[in-house]
Amino acid sequence: MPTFATFPSLLCLFFLILHTFAAPSPTLLFQGFNWDSCNKQGGWYNYLINSVSHLAAAGVTHVWLPPPSQSVAPQGYLPGRLYDLNVSAYGNEGELKALVKAFNDKGIKCIADIVINHRCAEKKDSRGIWCIFEGGTADDRLDWGPSYICRDDTAYSNGKGNLDTGLDFSGAPDIDHLNLRVQRELSDWMNWLKTEIGFDGWRFDFVRGYSPSITKIYMQNTSPEFAVGEYWDSLSYGPDGKPNYNQDNHRNALAQWVQTGGGVVTAFDFTTKGILQAAVQGELWRMKDSNGNPPGFVGISPGNAVTFIDNHDTFSQKMWPFPSDKVMQGYAYILTHPGIPSIFYDHFFDWGLKDAISKITAIRIRNAISETSSVQIVASDADLYVAKIDDKIYVKIGSRYDVGDLVPPNYKVSTSGTDYCVWEKIKNQYI
Ligand SMILES: *[C@@H]1O[C@H](CO)[C@@H](O)[C@H](O)[C@H]1NC(C)=O
Repeated sequence: MPTFATFPSLLCLFFLILHTFAAPSPTLLFQGFNWDSCNKQGGWYNYLINSVSHLAAAGVTHVWLPPPSQSVAPQGYLPGRLYDLNVSAYGNEGELKALVKAFNDKGIKCIADIVINHRCAEKKDSRGIWCIFEGGTADDRLDWGPSYICRDDTAYSNGKGNLDTGLDFSGAPDIDHLNLRVQRELSDWMNWLKTEIGFDGWRFDFVRGYSPSITKIYMQNTSPEFAVGEYWDSLSYGPDGKPNYNQDNHRNALAQWVQTGGGVVTAFDFTTKGILQAAVQGELWRMKDSNGNPPGFVGISPGNAVTFIDNHDTFSQKMWPFPSDKVMQGYAYILTHPGIPSIFYDHFFDWGLKDAISKITAIRIRNAISETSSVQIVASDADLYVAKIDDKIYVKIGSRYDVGDLVPPNYKVSTSGTDYCVWEKIKNQYI
């Protein structure tokens, strides 16, 4: 019979078990490569497999892997023979399957980078133009000719495709996604990536290259467990070269893309990235919009917003890097706020931020902060931003140390670092 002393610990165990089953782990994306990963000696797939347990321990639920198919450029973004996964600079098909299985065995889903706006041809036609495609199978799947290229991509087409439904990509033929065979065969290929390789979802590259109604078709034909699109448009800037305070047009364009794409797909929150990386430079007043909400896409459609600090383009290729000394402030923001946060490989493994990031992901998981958690912004001055999330945690970023009485006494500091701090509510002593 339990003594009086053991009773509370049994109760505690009961609540722990209840808690474990009640709250599914919040979606946490990890970008599992950078622009240089294709140069890894021994192959990236064979290398990344050593990271699986570290990512599982940090609570990562989804890993975004690089484009897997044969490609003219080693990073994978100029693909040609889509079914041929054996000549990728990252490794071969067997190594990719082993990597995906290792992630799956730890409960982590893998996201394939889907590069379909454009495609590189295998051969020239009789005119001497690169427009004869091969799929990489023994049969004629994805074996296309110039009539499968948008007819306004005049450098490659024979004028028989439909007009492009989005922006032109100058480096390779733009594929005619209104062609029903294109839709069917690309959907089949993506479904093959699911059934044969083990992928569960998609990261759609350069989605501004074709209409979101096309994305909707691929979403419907392939039913990914998770999908995110790269809709990368410039913010609006003032004459001083800084982003304007109001970026509503920018985030509304993301919302429009998601809605026309069917409403299930998510989008990288380029709005939050742009505002946040300006704000951490002594302009934290940017982090509250005129309605008192987060100013990025996450402030209007958090369930569809994938927040991030940097990626293989913005950081690796120095296109739009986050201030390097403020990166942890960025993570303190995205890992505590609604939206679906994404962690970049370099920050986690190469910059020595694994422990600092993992402490915040643990807080997110412990408090079941989700993509649709509520935010109450209690300060957004130049040097201080403080917000309460879900009545469970407070987060502060900025150089001002003293938060005064903004954080109530029943919250205790859970983790902190240079110019950031996260508090958790003090719980019942037995739970
Ligand atoms: C790639 O290699 C696998 C076995 O490792 C094989 O089953 C598959 O047919 C190959 N694919 C191509 C396009 O050569």
